[in-house]
Amino acid sequence: MDEKVCEDEMSERTLIVIKPDAVQRGLVGKILSRFEEKGFKILDLRMIRMDKGQAENFYSVHAGKPFFNDLVSFITSGPVVAAVLEGRNAIESVRIMIGSTDASKAPPGSIRGDYSLGLTDNSIHASDSPESFRRETKALGLVEWA
Ligand code: CMP
Repeated sequence: MDEKVCEDEMSERTLIVIKPDAVQRGLVGKILSRFEEKGFKILDLRMIRMDKGQAENFYSVHAGKPFFNDLVSFITSGPVVAAVLEGRNAIESVRIMIGSTDASKAPPGSIRGDYSLGLTDNSIHASDSPESFRRETKALGLVEWA
């Protein structure tokens, strides 16, 4: 089997959500460009205004944590842009590109490092596992990818 075939077999999907702070600041194009330039294919792209129920399902792994209510309030405070991306090792690669959760500590060159200082308002979310990808796409109504 040649190298190209092996690489294609490792292709994976992930979900990114550009958060209300970044949408409001007009950063959608810049952020999406980074993923396109890296080589990811955009399979689906939607602007969504999450309601409380969707947000609680989307972030259900964090239910009960001290920051949960603020997180749900924030993510429902304005439209988000959700995209399904496909590419080699997508989940890990995209997480590296977005940088650490606390944007004030994310390195320059990462998306959070370049565009944000926040923790809740940290500009972008990305799935951290195939299970999260399924839960999150389902919560947002992107059922064909779940
Ligand atoms: P995100 O990648 O969307 O996943 C969960 C979100 O919870 C995270 O980014 C942060 O925006 C938010 N959050 C707020 N406070 C914390 C915290 N103390 N630890 C981790 N995540 C937090």
